[in-house]
Amino acid sequence: MLPLRRYITMEEVQKKRILSGIQPSGDLTLGSYLGAIKNWAALAEEYDCYYMLADMHTITVRQTPADLRRRTLTQLAAYIACGLDPEKNVLFIQSHVPAHAQLGWVLDCYTMFGELSRMTQFKDKSAKNADNINAGLFTYPALMAADILLYQVDLVPVGGDQKQHVEICRDIATRFNGIYGDVFKLPKPYIPKVGARVMSLTSPENKMSKSDKDQNGCVYMLERPEDILRKFKKAVTDSEACVRFDPAQKPGVSNLMQIYSVCTGKTFDAIETEFEGRGYGDFKSAVGEAVVETLRPIREETEHILADKAYLEGIYRTGAERAAYVAGKTLRKVYKKVGFVER
Ligand code: TYM
Repeated sequence: MLPLRRYITMEEVQKKRILSGIQPSGDLTLGSYLGAIKNWAALAEEYDCYYMLADMHTITVRQTPADLRRRTLTQLAAYIACGLDPEKNVLFIQSHVPAHAQLGWVLDCYTMFGELSRMTQFKDKSAKNADNINAGLFTYPALMAADILLYQVDLVPVGGDQKQHVEICRDIATRFNGIYGDVFKLPKPYIPKVGARVMSLTSPENKMSKSDKDQNGCVYMLERPEDILRKFKKAVTDSEACVRFDPAQKPGVSNLMQIYSVCTGKTFDAIETEFEGRGYGDFKSAVGEAVVETLRPIREETEHILADKAYLEGIYRTGAERAAYVAGKTLRKVYKKVGFVER
C-alpha cells in the first residue's frame, strides 16, 4: 500500500467541502448504505470530503467496549470497501480529534433547552432507553453541530432522518455568528432523492434501524446472502398483489421498490412494468437478489481490508492528523471570539 498523504492540496482548499458520519453503535444497515455511504464515493471528485466514525455519539447509549472497538474498525473497512478512497477522502475516528469535544462544549452554551427538547431522535431514543436518559443524549445535536461546523462545510450528505439535526446546526451557527461575526459557514443537508428513508421490512411505517429489536426488519450490510434472501422473502407487503409505487397505501411494496430501484438503477415505472401480472413472491426474491449482489463485493472487500490491521491503523492515524489540522483552525478562532486567553 502507498503511504498516505498528510497535507491538504490547493485544489482541496478551493473545492466545496463535505462532512458526514455514521455511529458505529450497531452493525451497518442497508439503510445507512443506501441513504448515506453509497452516495459518498461519487462525491470525492467534486468535493473535499471528510467522513467520520462517530464513536463519541455512540456512548449516549451504553455500549460494550470490545464491540464498539470492533465495529469502529469494521465500519472503517466498510467505508473503504464502499469506494471511499482514503487518498481522496479524509477518513477519521471522531474521538481522535479532540476539537470535537472542545467545540461541542462551547456550542452546548449556545444551544437552547427548548430546541433540544424538540428533537425527534432525542424523543425516540429516550423512549427506547428510559433507564438512561443522560445529558449526552440530550445535547447530542450540539456535538453533531460541532462535527459539522469545525470543518466549515458546504454540504452534509445524510438520510432524511438527520435533516432536523442539520437544521439545528444551522440555527446554532446563525446564533453564534450573530454574536461574533462570520465564524461558521452555514451547511446545507444533502439528501438523496431515492433511498433517503429505507423502511423496516417487517414494519414499513418505521425506518430501518440498527437499534430495531426485530432482526427480520433490518438488513445488515455485511450479512450472509442466505439471511438477506430469507428476510426479503418474509418482508411485509399487502393484499393487492400489484407492484405499484404508493407509499401511503402500499408502504411495504413501495419500500421494496425503492430498495430495488437504488440497487439496480431502474425507475419506478420500469419496475412496475417488469412485475406486472407477477406475484409478490417473484418480486421479493428479485429485490433480495439485487441486494445480495449489491452487497456481496462490499462484504468480501471489507473482510479483506479488516485482515490488515496495520493498513487500517495507517488510515485512521493520517485521517486524524488531516482532520485535526482543519478542525484546529476553527476551534482557535472560536476560542478567541468567546474570550479564552490564548495559550
Ligand atoms: P446514523 O448513524 O443513525 O446513520 C448514519 C447515516 O445513515 C442514514 N440512515 C438512513 N438513511 C436511509 N434510510 C434509513 N433507514 C437510514 N438509517 C440511517 C442516516 O440518515 C445517516 O446519514 N447523528 C448521525 C451521525 C452523525 C453525523 C454527524 C452525521 C454524527 N455527527 C455529522 C452527519 C454529520 C447518526 O446518528 O446517523
